[in-house]
Amino acid sequence: MNTKTIKIDRNNFNIEDLKEAAMTLKNGGLVAFPTETVYGLGADGLNPQASEKIYAAKGRPSDNPLIIHIADINALDVLTKNPSKKGIQLAKKFWPGPLTLIFDKSEIVPYSTTGGLETIAIRMPNHPIAYELIKMSGVYVAAPSANTSGRPSPTKAEHVMDDLDGKIDYIIDGGKVDIGLESTIVDVTDDIPTILRPGYITRSMIEDVIGPVNVDQALLSKSYNPNIVAKAPGMKYKHYAPKGELIIFEGEMDRVIGKINEITKQKISEGLKVGIIATDETIGAYKEGDIKIIGTRKDEDTIARGLFEILRDFDNDGVDYIFTESFGDNKLGQAIMNRLLKAAGYRVVKVL
Ligand code: TXA
Ligand code: MG
Repeated sequence: MNTKTIKIDRNNFNIEDLKEAAMTLKNGGLVAFPTETVYGLGADGLNPQASEKIYAAKGRPSDNPLIIHIADINALDVLTKNPSKKGIQLAKKFWPGPLTLIFDKSEIVPYSTTGGLETIAIRMPNHPIAYELIKMSGVYVAAPSANTSGRPSPTKAEHVMDDLDGKIDYIIDGGKVDIGLESTIVDVTDDIPTILRPGYITRSMIEDVIGPVNVDQALLSKSYNPNIVAKAPGMKYKHYAPKGELIIFEGEMDRVIGKINEITKQKISEGLKVGIIATDETIGAYKEGDIKIIGTRKDEDTIARGLFEILRDFDNDGVDYIFTESFGDNKLGQAIMNRLLKAAGYRVVKVL
């Protein structure tokens, strides 16, 4: 298949430029497009043949359900059954935005989109290209992240091309995304909602609106526990895995840097290639290896935005190991550490 790519300036475009992509979606094709979180791979969510193409292109397990992207909150009337009051409160507060809500599904939503579940994940993205594309296509757009299953989510169009060129119809290149981590997912089907995936919208932002919520147990443990299965089917898979072995070093910063320098030296002497994830604040302290800056500790947003890209860059460099500092786990840090721990397969070295 020949994948067509079109570049669109998110701040200055003519909606006619999106027409071909919108028609591709309407006619059952696959279109990758930017959102504020990561790039999505869209298809008509009510057309089982179309959503099955998503699973094929990504190599995604068929029990891993898709998020439906909407441009108008009234779509809830069509896609859900008795949506909970708390769910609607959250939608009104945070949409458009990086929040996905799980409701009971209506009859018209096919099981091929929900991975066989009676519930449906819905999000209204906050991105001008996504908004116009969804509106113009006239369909409810099922869209997982536009990466090959298991690889880091794409934060720019080049990442989508690397994974899916030749496998999908269309890519809209709208430049780099804003947030860089996937949306927060909240299951609002129970009286007390549960956070299934941490993201830019934090627990306290949610609790400010609807009161106490639970957090899926699987997110709380810092080590892998085979007895706790994540409630969001996609969270149980090995994820974001770079090709090199990623290891997180935790502890007092000077000691962490010392330890990373020591192990790097040793690995290089064995003829191995080592990548190091540094920050603006620590870059000067590393001595050898393929050293890259993820962002600044003064602004967690920059770390979130840089995480998936740096993992892909190290893949391209062909490193055998990636050593990284660890990050705080309050606010956005929780989402950052959730992704980093999964990418590292929970390999953490505590430096004493
Ligand atoms: O920010 C995002 O959410 C991006 C952009 C493109 O919108 N999308 C995204 O989709 O991250 P994906 O497919 O990579 O992740 C969807 C997650 C998976 O972990 C999936 O298991 C979970 O949502 N999910 C979907 N439907 C669900 C449901 N009915 N119940 C529980 N979890 C669900
Ligand atoms: Mg994904």
